[in-house]
Amino acid sequence: MSTDTSQSHQPADEADTAVHRGLDGVIEDTTEISQINPATNSLIYRGYPAEQLAASRTFEEVAHLIWTGELPTPEQLSELTGHERENRELSRPLRDLVRALPDTCHPMDVLRTAVSVVGAEDPTEEDPSPERNRDRSIVLLAKLPTVVALDHRRRQGLDAISPDPSLSLAQNFFRMYFGQVPADEVVRAFEVSLIMYAEHGFNASTFAARVVTSTLSDLYSAVAAAIGALKGPLHGGANEAVVRTLREIGPAGNVAGWLDRALADKVKVMGFGHRVYKSGDSRVPTLAQLDRLTADGTAAERVGAYRALKSAMLERTHLHPNVDYPTGLVYDVMGFDLASFTPIFAMARVVGWTAHIAEQRAANAIIRPLSRYTGPTQRSVPA
Ligand code: COA
Repeated sequence: MSTDTSQSHQPADEADTAVHRGLDGVIEDTTEISQINPATNSLIYRGYPAEQLAASRTFEEVAHLIWTGELPTPEQLSELTGHERENRELSRPLRDLVRALPDTCHPMDVLRTAVSVVGAEDPTEEDPSPERNRDRSIVLLAKLPTVVALDHRRRQGLDAISPDPSLSLAQNFFRMYFGQVPADEVVRAFEVSLIMYAEHGFNASTFAARVVTSTLSDLYSAVAAAIGALKGPLHGGANEAVVRTLREIGPAGNVAGWLDRALADKVKVMGFGHRVYKSGDSRVPTLAQLDRLTADGTAAERVGAYRALKSAMLERTHLHPNVDYPTGLVYDVMGFDLASFTPIFAMARVVGWTAHIAEQRAANAIIRPLSRYTGPTQRSVPA
């Protein structure tokens, strides 16, 4: 008897089954975590509009909501923040390993490696209970910012700054990265970006995490896979590509000529277009308000090009900016190194990934689609 259950749903005639390249338009499963409605450009987390959460709640409160389904009571919030603050430190072997990696490697490689090490250091890694996975989710939320800051500083030849448990996640990250906490307005803008990045349905990295989880592999392996998927320029990597584009363009007056050449060469303009949203990304209006941070001084040229490119793209291609367009600019203006942009996205999205890992585990079916074979018809191996 065959033990390969992966083929048990094979249709009698594969030719009758439509091919959905990129799973475009395919509903693979249900989820209670977030809903994207492209018709109304809305995004809700567990029923609440993300922009309302961004206007009034902290990132930690939103993390609790995404994980558990409800906003926290004061006691629940203090339990979560206490646990997060206690777990920010990295083990000595992990710190040494990060320092030993080549500083030419991509920071997402560092983050992916660090998650594997945290998993290897967890003696209960194979315990899939919801309680342990919830605990691991908080531990990763706590440790990823420390890894990102440590990696940034070692590349700059700077000493690491230890986490400060008296600070919020966002404040502490600024301190570990830059050595100081900026004005409240800047910290809040950063927190808003984390909230808007925290969760977004079955995007490629979340789906990667769900695929790995569906084999009953462990949470760290699923998060490592998600980090690998987020690294790609068609996904998380777009925010850093946006800034490269703006730097390449220079002053706003260069936008028209630059775009002529880009469209003629069929270049994908990073930060525009979306698989799901076709008339605007629901997260952009909230993030675009962060523009005001950029009103002064140094980044004026990039802000000018940013606004001009947005208008020109809409006029010429009818493509709207996606989430990575405003965040790329905002992180640049805040002074983050380009290479840290996608790792910062991961620091936020780890909330969504781990919520989906829990959901997949709770009602699992191995994710194993079919393919239509288009290679040579069966033939005999030459004698
Ligand atoms: N710049 C220029 N043209 C674009 C474009 C962009 N950013 N995004 C889509 N298009 C064009 C494609 O070239 C294609 O044109 P064609 O039909 O003449 O070949 C058409 O729009 C459809 O694009 P497609 O790539 O098939 O859409 P998709 O739904 O598969 O892809 C993205 C969605 C996000 C992958 C795509 O828009 C993209 O690559 N954007 C840039 C990367 C980015 O910002 N990623 C972050 C996503 S949050």
